[in-house]
Parts: sequence; structure tokens; C-alpha cells
Amino acid sequence: MTTYFQKPGKNNTDNTLKLALQRAKELKIKDIVLASSKGYTAKQIAKMDIKGLNVVCVTHHAGFEKPGQMELNDETKKLLEIKGVKVFRGTHYFSGLARAMRMEFGGIYTGEIAANVYRTFGEGMKVCVEIAIMALDAGLIPFGKEIIAIAGTGVGADTAVVIYPAYGRKFFETQIAEIICKPRQW
Ligand SMILES: Cc1cc2nc3c(=O)[nH]c(=O)nc-3n(C[C@H](O)[C@H](O)[C@H](O)COP(=O)(O)O)c2cc1C
Repeated sequence: MTTYFQKPGKNNTDNTLKLALQRAKELKIKDIVLASSKGYTAKQIAKMDIKGLNVVCVTHHAGFEKPGQMELNDETKKLLEIKGVKVFRGTHYFSGLARAMRMEFGGIYTGEIAANVYRTFGEGMKVCVEIAIMALDAGLIPFGKEIIAIAGTGVGADTAVVIYPAYGRKFFETQIAEIICKPRQW
């Protein structure tokens, strides 16, 4: 059932979104969480049939690229919201304090250790887990349900999973039920 892309990256975005929406329909899943830094993936899903779905775009935290700047700008945010895509910006669950510790003192700390273990499945897998938790903690998806998470390798989307996310403080209750698609190498 899993679709494997030969290579990671943006070229896989539309296929990933189509496969994810198809699986959502089959499983009657209404909640879709996707990563979109500048808005490309979110705009692509907004062109598809997302009527009746709760689509949440998790974007980079403010100042990720440059202090004081938002990568997904206000204009794109408004446009997405008109098309029924919610936009959420918050502290990245895995890296948050762990990255500050590494940058200040060296070493590696729990959040980034967990992130790097997920990265053995590909960058997108790590991001799928992270954004599902962020959306649940933000109250943008319901608790106690499987959802679909979509993410990629730097840009676009190449990975989608059916996931039962836990709140961040209950991290180990997270279950990845299905891998819809992922790259075979990266
Ligand atoms: C919270 C968050 C964390 C992310 N972490 C990573 C990461 O660790 N590695 C990676 O390759 N991409 C990461 N991404 C990028 C996403 O997986 C995805 O490819 C990107 O946000 C798509 O942006 P676009 O739609 O503007 O092209 C992250 C994105 C977000 C929003």
C-alpha cells in the first residue's frame, strides 16, 4: 500500500497530496495536517477537493530564516484561509529548547535526538510527527483520532502518514498507523 518515490523532493508534492487525500477518503479521515514553510504545498492542496476537510498548514516559527520575518507571509496566509486552510505558526516541537542548548553549549539533547531517530525514515517522517503534535497541542485537530500528516524534505511534500498523534507531553502515545508514501532514499 505504501508508495515509494525514488528520490525525495518537491517533484513529489502533487502525488503525495493526491495519495493522502485518497487515503483520507478511504478511511473517512477528516483532519489533514501539512508542513508548508513558504506556502507552496498549502497552495497546492488548496487547489484540490478539500471540501468538508479540516486542513491545517503548520509553518515555520517566526524568525526561522531571519529574525522578525515570517516565511509564510500575511498575504499567503489570508489567501489560504479564504480557501479553507488554517495556518499555524508555533515553536517546533522537537527542536525548541534542544536546539538552543546545542547551539549554546554543544552536544545533543532529547528533542533533537528523537528528531534524528525519525530522520532514519526520511526528513518527511520526522516532520510529520512533529507537525501532528504541534497541531494537536494547538487544539486545531481533535484528540483521540487518526489524522493524516504530510511533509517533505526541505521544500514541497514527499511523505504522508496516517498517524494517531499524542499531546507533546504524552509523546510516547503517538502511533504511526500507516505510511502512505515516502522517498526510498534521501
Ligand atoms: C515545523 C517544521 C519543521 C520542519 N523540519 C524539517 C526538517 O527537519 N527537515 C526537512 O528536510 N524539512 C523540514 N521542514 C520542511 C517540510 O517538511 C516541508 O518540506 C516544507 O515545509 C514545505 O514548504 P513549502 O510548501 O513552502 O515548499 C519543516 C517544516 C516545518 C513547518
